Amino acid sequence: MFPDLLCDDVFRLETSRLWLRWPRAADAAQVASLAGDQDVAIKTARIPHPYPEGKAAEFILLSRSANAHGQALTLAITKKRRPNELIGCIGLEPDGDGRLEVGYWLGKRYWGRGLVTEAVQGVVDLTFRHTEVGELRASALPANPASRRVLEKAGFQPAGKRTIEAPARGGPLTTDLFRLTRDAWLDRSLALERRAAQPGLSTAPNM
Ligand SMILES: CC(C)(COP(=O)(O)OP(=O)(O)OC[C@H]1O[C@@H](n2cnc3c(N)ncnc32)[C@H](O)[C@@H]1OP(=O)(O)O)[C@@H](O)C(=O)NCCC(=O)NCCS
Repeated sequence: MFPDLLCDDVFRLETSRLWLRWPRAADAAQVASLAGDQDVAIKTARIPHPYPEGKAAEFILLSRSANAHGQALTLAITKKRRPNELIGCIGLEPDGDGRLEVGYWLGKRYWGRGLVTEAVQGVVDLTFRHTEVGELRASALPANPASRRVLEKAGFQPAGKRTIEAPARGGPLTTDLFRLTRDAWLDRSLALERRAAQPGLSTAPNM
């Protein structure tokens, strides 16, 4: 599903403020510290709380293996000027029906600066430019307006509700489902390009 370009740990995705790169063993302490924050974990389906000893190293190892085999793509979010310091993660996983599912978290101290929106937009563009996938999906808990807003800003549309497995939260959870099709992404990209070409108009997406 993922091309060779993404299956090598030299891969980097650059956005205006961020480098998205493969997670490394040296990121484990930072993952445990940031994802171990209850305010981060409880908004996700998968991050356990309390965060178990050794879980970060296991997560990194499994992510690198899946990246290398082209089965999924998990990237560390870093700021360009401090690329060795992981501040969050973003990932893409096949949903079993030919679509990819995007998920993310960011260390609490970095919230509210548009960083995950920037990372999601970068990953969306990467997906539609470098894979054949026709649709991206994402879920957000109803009690997570920040995540819903991130998805809206990146062009995702609400697509109803669904129940997902969330063992780290004690069982299945009903979430808000979002989708972004390749056609919708293309329309949006063309609209942004046209807007950028008009003198005096902002290039910011319709937020
Ligand atoms: C959700 C999360 C990834 C957002 O990251 P972020 O970098 O702070 O997001 P951004 O700054 O790009 O955008 C957040 C948007 O949500 C809005 N927002 C934040 N809290 C909000 C709230 N309580 N109600 C409504 N909107 C809210 C912000 O104002 C911003 O929108 P704006 O640009 O229109 O003002 C981050 O909060 C996080 O890691 N949370 C814990 C883990 C998580 O929820 N992961 C996603 C699981 S689905």
